[in-house]
Amino acid sequence: MASTGSCTVIVGCQWGDEGKGKIVDVLAENVDIVARYQGGANAGHTVHVGDDEFVLHQIPSGILHEGRRCLLGNGVVLDVHQFFQEYDALVARGIDIAGRVGVSYRSQMLMPYHRWLDRAVEDSAAVKIGTTGRGIGPAYEDKAGRRGVRVADLLDPERLAKRIDAAQDRVVARLDELGADRAELERAMDETLALGERLLGLATDVGPEISAALREGRNVLLEGAQGTALDLDHGTYPFVTSSNTTAGGAATGTGIGPTSITDVIGVVKAYTTRVGEGPLPTGFDPEMDEHIRQLGGEFGATTGRPRRCGWFDSVLTRYASQVNGLTGVAVTKLDVLDTLHEVRIATAYRMPNGKVREFFPADTWSLSHVEPVYETMPGWQAPTGDVRRLEDLPKNARAYLDRIEELTHAPVRWISVGSKRSQIIPVG
Ligand code: IMP
Repeated sequence: MASTGSCTVIVGCQWGDEGKGKIVDVLAENVDIVARYQGGANAGHTVHVGDDEFVLHQIPSGILHEGRRCLLGNGVVLDVHQFFQEYDALVARGIDIAGRVGVSYRSQMLMPYHRWLDRAVEDSAAVKIGTTGRGIGPAYEDKAGRRGVRVADLLDPERLAKRIDAAQDRVVARLDELGADRAELERAMDETLALGERLLGLATDVGPEISAALREGRNVLLEGAQGTALDLDHGTYPFVTSSNTTAGGAATGTGIGPTSITDVIGVVKAYTTRVGEGPLPTGFDPEMDEHIRQLGGEFGATTGRPRRCGWFDSVLTRYASQVNGLTGVAVTKLDVLDTLHEVRIATAYRMPNGKVREFFPADTWSLSHVEPVYETMPGWQAPTGDVRRLEDLPKNARAYLDRIEELTHAPVRWISVGSKRSQIIPVG
């Protein structure tokens, strides 16, 4: 039977930190379920409600809308310790979440040794990725290596103990070699397992739950974390995260069929940022970098690291449009550019061999040496934070957005002009 409810994927189209949390929060108004489909506590979704700021790492941003059901799909790696810290902090801040959070029986459990390995491996690596240190890579390695521990394993303590022993045996030698504090790790393991029963109380079959909701005509948002250029397959490998952040991952990461998805909204910041290692072709010179970082508050929500900043890169967003099959775009942080006398958009790259190309290259190393081909447009030099209708935006800001739309090959549907819920301009 055909789905009757809408199912919208929200996906980042740059290197993460596009402001997906804000867009999910705005769109959650009209949905019943919000589900995360990949990643773990490496994400940091910042949402402002009134004067309150919430930074969510694992629980979907939809939790801040009363009554919405929030699910974590099988594609997620779940740090149960962090998860309950976040859960309890929301309760302490007066958010009524009883019965509203569900976790897939098929989700992978991120163990304390994953976090430990992530940091130790990164410290000793010849080519550093600049990970968030949250254990993401090692947890997905265990998943792909078929030695991961899933939420369903909590149903049977004997099987759980065997799975953990087997998984740990694989890493013990490596942990010792890297000088892990075994006593500390064991303590952390005990704490993690003690939370198992509480977690089982939230376990559900996410795919069937979403499918049933869609059949009943209810609406669903699938919330991506990180961004297209950090996708394990389609991003700037190896400077990527270890999951499929792109829209295809939304189906495999929740357990619904791709034909259930009705819309894919790509979130793009009005300029570009990147945190962690790896190329950023449109990176600013140091002075402008610092200027925009301060104006945009560009510091990581998870690690506090300064983000590198650069001009809008339409080579990347066009690629993201193709990889994700975007049906619409949300442009965020337009207001950050309000004071600039001119703005630039990269439309192509001049490759190290002199050729100009409009496609995002697979060879990450050549990406480090490309020279962006820019179009320069006049700035609007007027505040946009109070604008609520497209026609009230300054002419030059509209021209900038029109060009983004044209070059990205997808229609702009929302423009965010500040961190507050109300600071959004719907288009069309
Ligand atoms: P990991 O996901 O912690 O393994 O980190 C891999 C890469 O993804 C690093 O460059 C991180 O900085 C980056 N990354 C991971 N999560 C986020 C995020 O939520 N926003 C932006 N970058 C991220």
